[in-house]
Amino acid sequence: MHIREFTEDDRDAVFRLRKVAFNGTKPSGPLLRPGSHGLLAEIDGRVAGVLGIGSYAQFYGGAAVPMGGIGGVAVDGAYRGRGIANALLDAALTTMREHGQPLSALYATVPTLYRRRGWERAGVFEWVELPMDRLLSVPKPAEPIPSRPAEKSDLPALHECYLEVARTIDGMADRRPPRFELDKVLEMDLVSVLPGPNGLRGYLTATREPGGDMGRLKVHDLIGVDVEAQLTLLASLASWAGLLEAVDLRITDPATVNLLGGTPLRYSVWTSTWMQRVVDLPAAVAARGWPRLANAAVDLEVVDDHAPWHAGLQRLVVEDGSVRVEPGGTGAVRLHARALGPWFSGAQNTHALRRAGLLEGDPADAVVLDQLTASPGTPRLADFF
Ligand SMILES: CC(C)(COP(=O)(O)OP(=O)(O)OC[C@H]1O[C@@H](n2cnc3c(N)ncnc32)[C@H](O)[C@@H]1OP(=O)(O)O)[C@@H](O)C(=O)NCCC(=O)NCCS
Repeated sequence: MHIREFTEDDRDAVFRLRKVAFNGTKPSGPLLRPGSHGLLAEIDGRVAGVLGIGSYAQFYGGAAVPMGGIGGVAVDGAYRGRGIANALLDAALTTMREHGQPLSALYATVPTLYRRRGWERAGVFEWVELPMDRLLSVPKPAEPIPSRPAEKSDLPALHECYLEVARTIDGMADRRPPRFELDKVLEMDLVSVLPGPNGLRGYLTATREPGGDMGRLKVHDLIGVDVEAQLTLLASLASWAGLLEAVDLRITDPATVNLLGGTPLRYSVWTSTWMQRVVDLPAAVAARGWPRLANAAVDLEVVDDHAPWHAGLQRLVVEDGSVRVEPGGTGAVRLHARALGPWFSGAQNTHALRRAGLLEGDPADAVVLDQLTASPGTPRLADFF
């Protein structure tokens, strides 16, 4: 088996393989889009498997950490079950590291495949269904902000408005070009902006899609930098009452959902989970934002057969407001590769990782890891009354 980066010459073979795997249609554009590259595995000169890597960055602690987004993993049906996907993932780890991507994320249809290579569930992507009565019961803004349709000249301000919110939510992409094309926003059916004194106070993007008698309204972003902006945009959605029974809202800012005071006990949310892997621990730690803690250190032993460059004894050092990982130490806390993603994202604290068999060592040593990511999770009850 030979693994190499694919080029435009491989376009037909790669698209054919993906079409069979995902039952899609063959795209008309080029294989290599700006901000993406990929690997293929060849056997006897035939393309046997493919994997795509997009160049993204995720906000953690307010800093954008470069991330390789894995997608389009497919192996020819005639070659399955002989380790091609495993080999592509191993090669992808090396490639991402070389491209300065210390993190990786993916949406898995086959989680087992990725778990064995060190990815683990680390966050969610969600849509919520908002029935019209809930939108109609949202408090009106004290002073509605006049909205207008977006123009091309608004795009930088629209991105800046998104970033103002996204950089405060761990895990969110920074939507950097070239992987994200800002101009594409204007292809949506509804793009309205709320002008403010300095840039935009908010914006809303939505598309009309099939479903039911009258179709659906899918709101991709509802972003407001303050409560009045969010209430103004929510009120604008209520104008669809009569025509639509509900609106679908992608949860970009979880705070918006909390403004829907009329939310009953139960409501519909569609959750997709994403998996994360730390590709290069020292580089990922250096790129992330961290809270200012007192000086401290944790001695780690990283167990990672697929990323040997960061496996073994490592010391996480908090010193004078900065955090770094350097080789050495006693290995007091043993972290398995699959613990790194959910720890880094804050999805799991060390207690949960320990119960999952992914972390060992004295809890007193591990405590700094929890303080750093401040991972409270969702406050929870398992008793109903
Ligand atoms: C999933 C797919 C890429 C696996 O390719 P493959 O070359 O056969 O995989 P490998 O032989 O390298 O096996 C990798 C591991 O994943 C496991 N695995 C593979 N397919 C699996 C499946 N459908 N369900 C559960 N586990 C699976 C294997 O058991 C193996 O485990 P091991 O390392 O412990 O032996 C291939 O079946 C495929 O193209 N499927 C259709 C497209 C798809 O679902 N892609 C994944 C998108 S997220």
